[in-house]
Amino acid sequence: MDEQILRNLLTLESEKSIGKVQIFDEIDSTNSESLRQIQSGNIENRVVVASSQTAGRGRRGRQWLSPKNAGIYLSLTRRFSMEANALQALSLVTAISVVEALYQLGAQGLQLKWPNDVLFEKKKLAGILLELQHKENSRFVVFGIGVNIELSADLLDSIDRPVTDLDSIMNEPPCRVILLAALLNQLCRNLEKYEGSGFSSFEERWNGLDCYRMNDIEIQNGKSRLIGKSLGVDSDGSLLLQTPKGIQLINGGEVFPSLYPLSE
Ligand code: BTN
Repeated sequence: MDEQILRNLLTLESEKSIGKVQIFDEIDSTNSESLRQIQSGNIENRVVVASSQTAGRGRRGRQWLSPKNAGIYLSLTRRFSMEANALQALSLVTAISVVEALYQLGAQGLQLKWPNDVLFEKKKLAGILLELQHKENSRFVVFGIGVNIELSADLLDSIDRPVTDLDSIMNEPPCRVILLAALLNQLCRNLEKYEGSGFSSFEERWNGLDCYRMNDIEIQNGKSRLIGKSLGVDSDGSLLLQTPKGIQLINGGEVFPSLYPLSE
C-alpha cells in the first residue's frame, strides 16, 4: 500500500486529523503497535495499517485471524478529552462509520449487533476493538478495525462462528487503499460530529441498523446471563433490555439471539 495514494484519497478534514501514517507488511497487531507508540511518548494522532497480523486481537480476549491481504487491519489513534465512560458510545459510532463507508462503496444489507459487530445476514463482516490509554494527563483512544475482504475456505472453516467477507457480498470488492480511505474519511467525519453533539445524533441511525432490535436476546457477561427483549440503544449507547423486572440498561456483555421464548 502506498501512503501517497492513501493521502490523495483522504478528505481535507481527515488528512488534518489523521497525522502520521505507518504502513506495515506484517506486524503482531496494529492495536498493540499503536499502544506501544503512545507508551513510548509518540502521542501524535496516527494510523497504523498492516497487510497481515501475526497476533491480531479481538474483543473479549479473542484472536482476530489476519492473513496477508485477506482483510483490512487498521488502527487509528486519537487524543480525546472526554471521560472514559464515553468510550462505549464511541465504539458504536465506529461501527456506524464502517457501515456507512461500505455503503458508499456499494455494499448493501449490512446490520449491526450491539455493541459493534458489523454483520451481513447475521454473519460477521467486520469487528471493532477500541482501547483506551492514559499518557501525560491525556486520554488516547485506539480505534482498531478489521474488515474481512477475501477469506480462504480453510480460514472460514477454522472460525467457529458465522463469518463472511466483502468478496461474498459484493460483485466487485473495493481495493484495499480505497476501502481504507473510505473508512478513515467516514470515521473522522463521525468523530467530529460525536465530539460536537454526542451520541444522541447517532441513536436513530444505530437503531435502524440493529439486527436484534425488538427481538428476544440473551446477554452473556462472564457467567451471568440475562434474557429479555432488545429495545435498541438509548442516547448514551447503552442497550435497553425489557426484562420481567423492568427495563435494564446494559453496558457490557455479548448479545445472542435468545433460544428461550419469553413469556408475555
Ligand atoms: C472483534 O472481536 O470483533 C474485534 C476485532 C478487531 C480486529 C482489528 S484488526 C486491526 C486491529 N488490530 C487488532 O489486533 N485488532 C483490531
